[in-house]
Amino acid sequence: MKKLTFLIVLLISCSVHAQKFQGLAPTPPMGWNSWNSFQVNCSEQLIKETARALIKSGMRDAGYTYIVVDDGWEAMERDGLGNLVPDPKRFPSGMKALGDFLHSNGFKFGIHNCAGRTTCSGFPGGRGHEFQDARTYASWGVDYLKYDWCDHGTANAEETYKTMGDALFAAGRPIVYSLCEWGNNQPWLWGPKMAHLWRTTGDITDCYSCQDVYATGWKYILAKQDGLEKYAGPDHWNDPDMLEVGNKGLSMTESKAHFSLWAILAAPLMAGNDVRKMSSDVREILTNNEVIAVDQDSLGKQGYKFMEHPSKEIWVKELSNGEWAICFFNSGDDVLKMRVHWAYLPFLKGTFQIRDLWQKKGIGKTDADFSADIPSHDVVLLRLSPVKQGD
Ligand code: GLA
Repeated sequence: MKKLTFLIVLLISCSVHAQKFQGLAPTPPMGWNSWNSFQVNCSEQLIKETARALIKSGMRDAGYTYIVVDDGWEAMERDGLGNLVPDPKRFPSGMKALGDFLHSNGFKFGIHNCAGRTTCSGFPGGRGHEFQDARTYASWGVDYLKYDWCDHGTANAEETYKTMGDALFAAGRPIVYSLCEWGNNQPWLWGPKMAHLWRTTGDITDCYSCQDVYATGWKYILAKQDGLEKYAGPDHWNDPDMLEVGNKGLSMTESKAHFSLWAILAAPLMAGNDVRKMSSDVREILTNNEVIAVDQDSLGKQGYKFMEHPSKEIWVKELSNGEWAICFFNSGDDVLKMRVHWAYLPFLKGTFQIRDLWQKKGIGKTDADFSADIPSHDVVLLRLSPVKQGD
């Protein structure tokens, strides 16, 4: 009898499912992250200046509310009790004070750490300290945890990420949990039950089509999203990595196309440029509220690649109220003469009004063919709304 009771208790505890806070990411999270522009050179001063620039530029009010301090914020060692501590020189006021500053300015506080023994830059990782660290983050007022995958040894990804997810849940503060496992173990299959978003690929870098062992341009990252759309939805998003919009390796056209396609993908929109110094062109891309509305549409459907020919891709995203976003993308090196007979897109039932989201104006209806000359690496991004009687 004792043995049976033990077995039942064991079975019950093994079948306990991963838990997460529900309702924290009904649409893809938006914000700013320090990594793409500053790597480990983050500091309290940089974060505060960035917060002020996000307010001044209108980005906070456009929806960029999570400020995420990526790798490099920590001291090289935990304290005598095993607690994580920030680098005393770069974060002299401590992380609780930084969180308070961000909250009082209308932001949410995000932080980075790693499921391995050390982070990718050699700072203390969370392995073996998950419950202690989750309580620390809660006590600092953290709202978002990006959890990396360096130095994990032979650890099983799903189990390891579940441990941290359980720890966050147990700590009791609602924290968006962002897995950064680079898509190695198909996190879209097991991520939804424990996390709000998960990276689908290795790192992005600021170019269109370059690649090295650590990072690739957005063209290759985009290609890897094809087929993942069925795994995304409210509270569980695919993350094709942070934005490189406005960074030096991209032309303005490539930044605009990158932003448009990330909106079609319902990607988390985490700006990764130095917003203290951005040009008005870059600001206009990042704050185009009609493009942001495509990303943030309440239906929560990730878009998909409808068709591809050499140099030509059509990506589409179903929106609420029967609307659609359509993105024509010239992936080639020459101007693309795009001609579209709308009947060729069979999911469009009836006639639609067409609005160009970069020109910000109506350009007719789908009862006539559409044509545009699209420069190399550029897009045309349209929003189609069903024609109502009387239109
Ligand atoms: C990994 C992640 C990046 C960044 C760095 C920090 O490479 O994928 O996004 O967080 O670690 O070291």
